[in-house]
Amino acid sequence: MTDIAPIRKAVFPVAGLGTRFLPATKAIPKEMLPVVDRPLIQYAVDEAREAGIEQMIFVTGRGKSAIEDHFDIAFELEKTMSERGKDISVLEPTRLGPGNCAYVRQQEPLGLGHAIWCARDIVGDEPFAIFLPDEFMVGKPGCMKQMVDAYTRIGGGNLISVLEVAPEETSSYGVIAPGKRDGAITEVTGLVEKPAPGTAPSNLIISGRYILQPEVMRTLEHQEKGAGGEIQLTDAMAQMIGNQPFHAVTFDGRRFDCGSKAGFAAANFALALERPDIGPELRAFAVDLLG
Ligand code: G1P
Repeated sequence: MTDIAPIRKAVFPVAGLGTRFLPATKAIPKEMLPVVDRPLIQYAVDEAREAGIEQMIFVTGRGKSAIEDHFDIAFELEKTMSERGKDISVLEPTRLGPGNCAYVRQQEPLGLGHAIWCARDIVGDEPFAIFLPDEFMVGKPGCMKQMVDAYTRIGGGNLISVLEVAPEETSSYGVIAPGKRDGAITEVTGLVEKPAPGTAPSNLIISGRYILQPEVMRTLEHQEKGAGGEIQLTDAMAQMIGNQPFHAVTFDGRRFDCGSKAGFAAANFALALERPDIGPELRAFAVDLLG
């Protein structure tokens, strides 16, 4: 078996304005909204770490500095808590040292493809992962770990996570045209971003996790506009099919669309119920409320 390059870097596009969550997101990035007591972006970074990824690259924008603060050392907080004998281990996952994070700005909202392209120099010439933090994936192991394992089994190439949705939902997503299927792995023979209703090649949508070869950056360089007038990552990936292996892995776990209010509320409810410290109280409350 030939050695395949490990996935060491992950890109997190976090420049979006989060208008769907206004006024909550007026002064706070939507990625900092908490599911129980962790911001969404922290779950994505934890998922990346679990998959062995070392460097987190955030594509940010104006008003997103809370994300940088979150992953920095909070000196006053830690000093004060330590002096008072308080346990600061809860802050451990939030620390990303200088070699483990990088921030680059997307100055204009030109689309997901453009956001990823903004990270090209930091990614360099190696395969990398992408996380869309709105897509909250809960699994054991996590979604990216499942993907990295599949990537190793397949022997490299490009890999996206997919999941099945109702036919009427496909027009909101990137959709794959499936080829041969082997367990959780499906060959990808085509990709289309936000297909018009009734035209989707399948019900399998791209669910916000990617492992891509660096050549995608060269395609994104052309900055061609696609669905919604935006530079689409899906279009750049579609151009790689045929030149490089391209597969999808069906995620074994639960997914919450935290870009929608209902999905975000459901994620909070589901994760809170599972927590030993607050779950029983919440369950009793829900039973009482729903009768
Ligand atoms: C983006 C991608 C799309 C993917 C979706 C997952 O769309 O372009 O392919 O299916 O995320 O949430 P957006 O949600 O930015 O419109």
